[in-house]
Amino acid sequence: MKLIVVGSGGREHALAWRLSQSPGVTQVFVAPGNGGTAREPGLRNVPITDIAELAEFAIREKVAFTVVGPEAPLAAGIVDLFREKRLRIFGPTRAAARLESSKDFAKAFMIRHGIPTAQYKTFSSAAEAHDWINERGAPIVIKADGLAAGKGVVVAQTPEEAHAAIDAMLIDNRMGDAGARVVIEDFLEGEEASFIVMVDGRNILPLASSQDHKRLCDGDQGPNTGGMGAYSPAPVVTPEVHARVMREIIRPTVEAMASEGNPYTGFLYAGLMIDSAGKPRTLEFNCRMGDPETQPIMMRLRGDFARIIEHAIDGTLDNIDIEWDRRCALGVVLAAANYPDDPRRGDPIHGLPAQGNAVDSDCVVFHAGTQAGDGGQTLTAGGRVLCVTALGDSVRVAQSRAYRAIETVGFDGMQLRRDIGHRAIGRAPRS
Ligand code: AMP
Ligand code: GLY
Repeated sequence: MKLIVVGSGGREHALAWRLSQSPGVTQVFVAPGNGGTAREPGLRNVPITDIAELAEFAIREKVAFTVVGPEAPLAAGIVDLFREKRLRIFGPTRAAARLESSKDFAKAFMIRHGIPTAQYKTFSSAAEAHDWINERGAPIVIKADGLAAGKGVVVAQTPEEAHAAIDAMLIDNRMGDAGARVVIEDFLEGEEASFIVMVDGRNILPLASSQDHKRLCDGDQGPNTGGMGAYSPAPVVTPEVHARVMREIIRPTVEAMASEGNPYTGFLYAGLMIDSAGKPRTLEFNCRMGDPETQPIMMRLRGDFARIIEHAIDGTLDNIDIEWDRRCALGVVLAAANYPDDPRRGDPIHGLPAQGNAVDSDCVVFHAGTQAGDGGQTLTAGGRVLCVTALGDSVRVAQSRAYRAIETVGFDGMQLRRDIGHRAIGRAPRS
């Protein structure tokens, strides 16, 4: 059976790598893929990004099903198009993907259905937004309404920062159309976690919990990024918190999407803020898996992932369970010089595994912004370049394995955090 994974990041590398290990899978096409998927046994890069062309390719190659990694093709309607052509695909329709592609839609939906989230208001007038900030004070959070590749959120500690963010988005138009409307919401305190489930329209299958580190520098300082590292499971998601998230957030969301005529299919990712009493609130929905959360989650997933996705496409997720490796997995992102502002490209990467991407059976170098260069070289080609991910009996063991593997890998200008997992280690009982 042949499959397609759509995308080119570390998330797609990890999804394709795990799918290629399913019995019966002969080939996983990655469209367009990266320098790591090009080196991975069982995967083949296909240089197609246009969704109509991709549908033609899927028909020609008799692909069994397609899994979509990033949000952009979902928001562009890839699932709608594939379904029209009777092609099997796992992801939300364009209408359902609005849970991520419009913050205003997501917030109004949550409030309408009593799903816990921060209070908010939406503005397209800068004057009204400024008045609202004067009324509410700081800290306060300003979000561009549309997709802004993780750069559309400003957590303002002072009213001045908040006013500046409003001017940047609504007057200077720095985010383009995505920032033509802004959502201003109350600041929530607590610890963040990523809660990702698979949904078939009705049934829900939760994946293992995870946490990522969004800031560039150690100690959670510096600018926000797409994520500098992640681990699974997230200790803050205790069994009680898990049950509450399912009961108060995930189930009501899936039921309300169906009752509003937009049944949700695909991965659904709730970014949560969990307060000190264990109450979860939704910071955002994503209509896809997280990156880099997927890398540790895929390291821990046992069994036949292709079969699980087939159940999801068939609407029979209630007939299947996922088995998880009991160990922890932790991934450290190696980012390019000048990430996140203007990442430098074209630096040669040294120290990659000689064949494939596994360092050993418990450690994999997942690629993101890389491409094959001349003479077998691999070059940097984006902001987040690699995510070195390892399994271990505790977060601390997984962490030291990942950092040990990184000692031999590198490129000019490489940036990384040295403290991935610190929150989980801080919570673990001392041994
Ligand atoms: P988002 O893209 O909506 O998840 O926001 C990006 C990051 O901004 C989140 O991971 C949080 O760290 C932070 N953030 C977003 N909304 C809030 C909020 N209401 N209160 C506190 N922090 C927030
Ligand atoms: N790691 C955060 C995200 O994928 O949105």
